[in-house]
Amino acid sequence: MFARTLTVVSLFSVAFQYVNATCLLDNNAQKVAENYKTLFSNYSPQFANQVLTSDVIDQSDSVNWLIANGTNCPPPLGSTTFNGRTAFEAGQGSQPNMPFTILNVYHDCTNVFVRWKFDQTVQSPQQVQGISVLGTTLNTDLTKLLTQPYLIKTVYAEFNVGAFITNLGYYHGTPPPTCKNSKREVEGVAFVA
Ligand SMILES: *[C@@H]1O[C@H](CO)[C@@H](O)[C@H](O)[C@H]1NC(C)=O
Repeated sequence: MFARTLTVVSLFSVAFQYVNATCLLDNNAQKVAENYKTLFSNYSPQFANQVLTSDVIDQSDSVNWLIANGTNCPPPLGSTTFNGRTAFEAGQGSQPNMPFTILNVYHDCTNVFVRWKFDQTVQSPQQVQGISVLGTTLNTDLTKLLTQPYLIKTVYAEFNVGAFITNLGYYHGTPPPTCKNSKREVEGVAFVA
């Protein structure tokens, strides 16, 4: 169906993508990472439909734990967080945007690895950083090869839930004795979910 190597060169816009049908290229990985970022910083169901496969799987124990608020309520740790795009959209559409800054993008032939950090406008005073592994697949809609050649099919994402719930005020750490100058201004209150 595809030529072994399909290179798409655009004369019109640098936003268009080069595509190699056998492996993600750097510009494709960057695009996938930015699509993922847009899902959190400027969410719309229309955009989600453009960049996620309909059977996308999202697994995150960080999110599972937060949904259950650290209790044994569902979803159990280890379980799929969002099974399919409709579930993803219901989850993402019901929360405010959570913009983050991309710190690094790496990739192999089919996966994009993103290090990121939530913006201080949504997470402070402690920074909350995370790592997401995005499995991709070539878009079967060939009319989109120039603009969205790779869709996100799997998401495995974890981030610092400890700092996240500290920012929510649910957790207050105790500085270790070796800590002479705690900038976190915390007191010892046990976290009980
Ligand atoms: C989550 O747990 C914390 C700590 O017990 C509590 O303060 C907070 O109200 C809980 N949040 C929800 C949404 O139940």
